[in-house]
Amino acid sequence: MAPKTVAGLLKSEAKSQDINIKGWVRTFRANRFIALNDGSTLQNIQCVVDFENTDETTLKRITTGAAVHIKGLLIESQGKGQSVEVQVKDIKILGDSDPETFPIQPKKHSLEFLRENAHLRVRTNTFSAVMRVRSTLAFAIHRYFNENGFYYMHTPIITGSDAEGAGEMFRVTNFDAKNPPLNEDGSVNYKEDFFGKETNLTVSGQLEAETYAMALGKVYTFGPTFRAENSNTSRHLAEFWMIEPEVAFMDLAGNMDLAEDFLKYVLKYVLETNREDLEFLQQRLQDEEKGKPQAERSEMSLIEKLKFVIDNNFKRVSYTEAIDILRDSKPNKKKQFKYLIENWGADLQSEHERFLVEKHFNCPVILFDYPANIKAFYMRLNDDGKTVRAMDILFPGIGEMVGGSQREERLDVLTEKMKALGIDEKELWWYLDLRKYGTAVHSGFGLGFERLVMFVTGMGNIRDVIPYPRTPQNAEF
Ligand code: 4AD
Ligand code: MG
Repeated sequence: MAPKTVAGLLKSEAKSQDINIKGWVRTFRANRFIALNDGSTLQNIQCVVDFENTDETTLKRITTGAAVHIKGLLIESQGKGQSVEVQVKDIKILGDSDPETFPIQPKKHSLEFLRENAHLRVRTNTFSAVMRVRSTLAFAIHRYFNENGFYYMHTPIITGSDAEGAGEMFRVTNFDAKNPPLNEDGSVNYKEDFFGKETNLTVSGQLEAETYAMALGKVYTFGPTFRAENSNTSRHLAEFWMIEPEVAFMDLAGNMDLAEDFLKYVLKYVLETNREDLEFLQQRLQDEEKGKPQAERSEMSLIEKLKFVIDNNFKRVSYTEAIDILRDSKPNKKKQFKYLIENWGADLQSEHERFLVEKHFNCPVILFDYPANIKAFYMRLNDDGKTVRAMDILFPGIGEMVGGSQREERLDVLTEKMKALGIDEKELWWYLDLRKYGTAVHSGFGLGFERLVMFVTGMGNIRDVIPYPRTPQNAEF
């Protein structure tokens, strides 16, 4: 008799069959009713103990959090709330759980408290639902690219380059921190370091992905990404996962089409696959919003919001149009923005992005053709000489979900740009080679995986959609 999962049992039609199941006790009521969970579904299965025939010590050991092995009969439920239940014939305690100290009690805990217990929080309904959704999304992403002829490429985690040119990198070294070898001028001599040069954890796999796109045509990466931005916000992590497709012979319009089609596909997939988890998370969100003033509550439920994004076209707006809208907007005129929009060329802050998606357009927005000097060096310069073929996709409640561009494929324009920014050509000789040997129009984007999980689950803090968040001053577990 092979052990079954709770999900399998709850779906099972056959009644009065012998079953065998292992899981963790969520609650134990009236010395009789165990709510058992094994992670296979949000639901618990009710297991009814015959307390007259079970010894006292075993009954005492059935506590919240304990691991148990139950053998019994799957029968039609006698009570309300479930269609089947297990009549327990034999229960073995596999692992005790001390009810005095187990942090996850059957009651509501704050998200902050659960973050401090991140190793146990996945035993709650909320976190198990979020993590099942996260897993489905990751699968859907691979599935989409696989179905569409992309190759999965593993870009290096340790690199010598700063792809984004922002300098927010974590150094990788095996020097003795107290006593690194020095040059004559007192600076650290990285030539003697493990790799013979300065290296860091990758901030993006894009530059390497470009090299593969220029041979395999369509590739994507999906891996961990590291940024030492000291921004303690609900949308930034020091370690996050990024998906980066890169496609040869594709321009910016194609890039927008790809990103939109891709996002709709994965949203649809998770909606079909994790309905139960999403309904639970939707209810959780509604309960959380009850405490908020009307104006701050969402107009749409979580599932309505996902459907809305799937069913409607993203709005495509140039940076220049966006600046006009923002300049004439109420919060700008009334000086309610922290950063007022006065001139073309201003960098957009999250308050501006949120105004555009949440107040003005009320749907996902693709902003494109940004000023060259607020974007990375590799973006394709437009004929106007001042804007680049960049695109950011902004989502309601999230802000920037995707950042991408058509890449500068012309060697002379690229080297000139690098010179102006002080980027050493010798460091990126291999990247420049792409522009010497069979260069072509190509494009790609980066999707922040945790921001997608936030949008789908309705969780408001990025720390709650990754198992073990890494943020400034925090790398526990
Ligand atoms: O806009 P970014 O910096 O773009 C790139 O890195 C490009 N090289 C991507 C490409 O074209 N291949 O980052 C892409 C996305 C952002 O839109 C955001 O969703 C996410 O990555 N992101 C972060 N997510 C969590 N924490 C952080 N600190 C993030 N920084 C960026
Ligand atoms: Mg960006």
